[in-house]
Amino acid sequence: MKLTVFLSGFLLLFLLPNWTKSVDVVDINTLARIINFFEQNYKRVDEDGHPRQYAIAINVPKDQCQNGFIPDQNKFLAQENALNVKNAITDETNGLYQGAELIAAGLRKVEISRKNKHYRHSESLLLHPTDNSPMTKLLNKTKDGCSVFYTFDSPCVDSCLNAKREHSIINALEKWKEHDGIKAFVFKNFWKFDIGKDLQNNFTQIAARIPLYRCKIVVFFTVFLLLFLLSDWTESVEGDKVDINTLARIINFIEQNYKRVNEVDKHPRQYATAINVPNNQCRPNFIPDQNNFLTQENAANVKNAITDETNALYQGAELIAAGTRKVVISKKKQYNMHSESLLLNPADNSPMTKLLNKRKDGCSVFYSFESPCVDTCLDATGKHSILKALENWKEHSGIKAFVFKNFWKFDTKKDLQTKFKQIVAHVPLYRCVSDNECYACNGEGNTPIDTHCLPPPEN
Ligand SMILES: *[C@@H]1O[C@H](CO)[C@@H](O)[C@H](O)[C@H]1NC(C)=O
Ligand SMILES: *[C@@H]1O[C@H](CO)[C@@H](O)[C@H](O)[C@H]1NC(C)=O
Repeated sequence: MKLTVFLSGFLLLFLLPNWTKSVDVVDINTLARIINFFEQNYKRVDEDGHPRQYAIAINVPKDQCQNGFIPDQNKFLAQENALNVKNAITDETNGLYQGAELIAAGLRKVEISRKNKHYRHSESLLLHPTDNSPMTKLLNKTKDGCSVFYTFDSPCVDSCLNAKREHSIINALEKWKEHDGIKAFVFKNFWKFDIGKDLQNNFTQIAARIPLYRCKIVVFFTVFLLLFLLSDWTESVEGDKVDINTLARIINFIEQNYKRVNEVDKHPRQYATAINVPNNQCRPNFIPDQNNFLTQENAANVKNAITDETNALYQGAELIAAGTRKVVISKKKQYNMHSESLLLNPADNSPMTKLLNKRKDGCSVFYSFESPCVDTCLDATGKHSILKALENWKEHSGIKAFVFKNFWKFDTKKDLQTKFKQIVAHVPLYRCVSDNECYACNGEGNTPIDTHCLPPPEN
């Protein structure tokens, strides 16, 4: 563990200068994946399925435009509902969607009189009026994000790019230029009436203000790949088990970020956490990092909360955590409530119950630094037993895992073979000892608990 920490610090030094250089420019491969994501999720089509003009703008954390980022539905624009976006931009009476990190527009039909109507272009819907447009508001939300504007057809030269016209986007581009962070103006096709014009000259109206890109998408290839990926994915759904390597990374992430240590001597102290995250985050190849995993929790807040022995409990959006709580009965009498019990009791209305309720089919992982103590936690008749809570947890859909790292020091000579089977009767049990070493304890039915999950026999 110490070695890992040291190494990350070392790596950071090398990465920083590199990062500073690339900060202002989108990574071209990541951009291709982002545009492909738009086309897969939000593309506007007519009733025959033919694509129609639409435009989209996003303002997302900068790292999502940098080298190596792979957008997917769980970590990219996760606050937007694709169906809502498509419905909004297809409805020509308004044609506009304004979400948290994304705005989008189709065409808006404007009826001047019964016989006279015109259409407002999607670029204009997003970028007008310059000082108070959907784009202005979007950019205002994250001052140094990565902002990408994508239009399916290139902006029309005669009105959009003509500074003298009412629907010109030039002033908006001028204003956007002032925004910090990464910027990209992207189109796919040429607007059909502009082919043959002097685009070499006309597009400099854009490029002089915002970096301009064209992304063409090889849709066939994507569809092809998707077929392979889908069958792979379906297979792992059936298993309904956490991927053991991903689990090792998750537990390592928890240890790196939330581990409770003694304030004085820095020795690790017992703590427990539970998470309820999208199922794919427990499947093969998911690599948790601070930008894609438990992003709503602040590690310092978690650590402070679980270290404070008067309460010792943290309850966040996707994570709950506990240290030990000191309960004073009288001046001479006090006891410690264990972290497992703090999270799991009372069984019908515990922090765990509430966490599981938030995502009915999520992947739920309970991690305890030390194995649950035999005498209170695993004593079915005791007041602090966790067994009833495990029975409730069993009813939760989705992937489940109960994980521990060390053996509780007073239990190493007890009959853990028998005791741990009480856990396995409800949820799968694992032991994780490092970032690449986890064991399934098994023990279902009449099978024994795996020896990796038991203290070494005394010699
Ligand atoms: C931008 O945000 C500031 C506060 O950060 C607010 O005062 C201002 O009204 C916002 N402007 C727009 C156009 O939303
Ligand atoms: C587009 O280019 C043509 C030819 O260079 C030029 O006459 C015209 O003014 C340009 N239009 C815009 C809007 O830049």
